[in-house]
Amino acid sequence: MELLKQKVKNEGIVLAKGVLKVDSFLNHQMDPFLMREIGREFKSLFAGDKITKVLTIESSGIAPGIMTALELEVPLIFARKQKSLTLTEDIYVEKVYSFTKRETNEITVSKKFIEPGERVLIVDDFLANGEAAFGLARIVEQAGATVAGIGIVIEKSFQPGRELLLKAGYRVESLVRIASLEDEKVAFVGEE
Ligand code: G4P
Ligand code: NA
Ligand code: NA
Repeated sequence: MELLKQKVKNEGIVLAKGVLKVDSFLNHQMDPFLMREIGREFKSLFAGDKITKVLTIESSGIAPGIMTALELEVPLIFARKQKSLTLTEDIYVEKVYSFTKRETNEITVSKKFIEPGERVLIVDDFLANGEAAFGLARIVEQAGATVAGIGIVIEKSFQPGRELLLKAGYRVESLVRIASLEDEKVAFVGEE
């Protein structure tokens, strides 16, 4: 997605340890025009897939998620993160370990929002190791629903998430793919 590539090139800041800071348009300040285009892009990628719901995780997945859901004309659900839980009867719970933040969160979705047989599109802002996407996929499957695909705004292709998700049989569509963040420079897949 050319517009997104330009945003990453012009505004992304490479931090140490392979982290890309994009807080001027995605993770802090958000660009609604860009979000609208992201929604349209995912709509065109998944238009034929009978998606019944979009599922993301708070907080940075919500903006691309809601625009995608708007374009597909389905609801958005965002999984919540919490430290630990006592009452778990009416919710699906999965553990997600974040390598970036070195902490485990429990992510939860209320059982009433995913019905068996639904076709769910998972959307997230970043794909690194795939932990968040796998956690969301396990929730969809716990509900007896199907993961129709995984839509990622920025994929860090030098981390193993994409490969692991493909190996597990999921369809992964990333709007930009970053091959490397070495030497403080962003190199896109296909342009290295
Ligand atoms: P994984 O889910 O693919 O395994 O990724 P990881 O645990 O490494 O990511 C943990 C958090 O860090 C996620 O946000 C993810 O979106 C974000 N993240 C990973 N790599 C980058 C990066 O290079 N740049 C930025 N800006 N974020 C990155 P989160 O904890 O869910 O936070 P948020 O959604 O509230 O922002
Ligand atoms: Na995220
Ligand atoms: Na994030």
